[in-house]
Amino acid sequence: MRTELLTMLRETNDYVSGQKICETFGVSRTAVWKAVNQLRKSGYEIEAVSNKGYRLLSIPDILNQNELLSRRKTKWIGIDTLCYETIDSTNAQAKRLAEAGYGNGTLIVADHQEAGRGRRGRSWETPAGTNIAMSLLLKPEINPNNASMITLVAALAVSKAITQITGEPAPIKWPNDIVMNGKKVCGILTEMSAQFDYVNHIVVGIGINVNIESFPEEIAEIATSLRKETGKLISRAELIEAVWEQFEAAYEVYLQTQDLRNLVKEYDARLVNMHRNVKVLDPKEPFEGKAMGITPRGELMVDTWESRKLVSSGEVSVRGIYGYV
Ligand code: BTN
Repeated sequence: MRTELLTMLRETNDYVSGQKICETFGVSRTAVWKAVNQLRKSGYEIEAVSNKGYRLLSIPDILNQNELLSRRKTKWIGIDTLCYETIDSTNAQAKRLAEAGYGNGTLIVADHQEAGRGRRGRSWETPAGTNIAMSLLLKPEINPNNASMITLVAALAVSKAITQITGEPAPIKWPNDIVMNGKKVCGILTEMSAQFDYVNHIVVGIGINVNIESFPEEIAEIATSLRKETGKLISRAELIEAVWEQFEAAYEVYLQTQDLRNLVKEYDARLVNMHRNVKVLDPKEPFEGKAMGITPRGELMVDTWESRKLVSSGEVSVRGIYGYV
């Protein structure tokens, strides 16, 4: 009932009478009072005025089930939402839950990760109370060869959600970093368990630097946060909801063809590398050229002076000529 009460108070954005709450949920006035007090204990400021009722004054920036479920508008993502104050890694937890039988759409969110994982075996920091670390469990009926494109779908969704919430552009650095003013605000790690022709499960792990104000020296040059770039404190729960609404829509389009043919235009419009010179750090043969957008399979098209090359994600990394972007 706390989740539903929260939805009601947030969506009404005015006083809601005790009577109405009792009738809506079929509970006593004492039960309502108790629920309100529990919410207050979690940090919600709720005013109670006699003859008027209850009004939500402020919402804390917390990531718990009540907060996330009371905002949920997605069709299937997050029906099962599991929140942790601290976890090793939401991707690792998603895998454990997949093996324990949790289904498609299960969402795992943590306030703090102790062993967050990045791409290429790197680590990913999620200090408590400031950022988003979350993983979505997918069990799609697709050919495993088509799975890597899901990470670009996720990048598109995060890019759109950040713009929706902050009003600022949040372009994509191919294949799946989100940048603002040339620095990284979000990383995505997609992991798959599959057989030759069958996907057991896919975990899409998303880390967004939201309200963090400073970074360790080693990454300060290339990392930033939404707070630093916009000067605003962002509601993490609101952003999480926006990401998964965007993801649901884009993923549906991807599933129709199991490729990105109907998303290329939108992706390219947000590609920070578009028409810029890039260095492709191929361990066998590094080269430079001009990025010309993605193919329907998510490869980056790079024009060198002699030919067009298609770069696959996972194999190589791409940098700007003078730095990260
Ligand atoms: C990258 O290296 O850019 C990818 C970083 C991905 C980090 C996220 S945070 C949530 C999820 N859990 C993890 O352990 N990693 C991903």
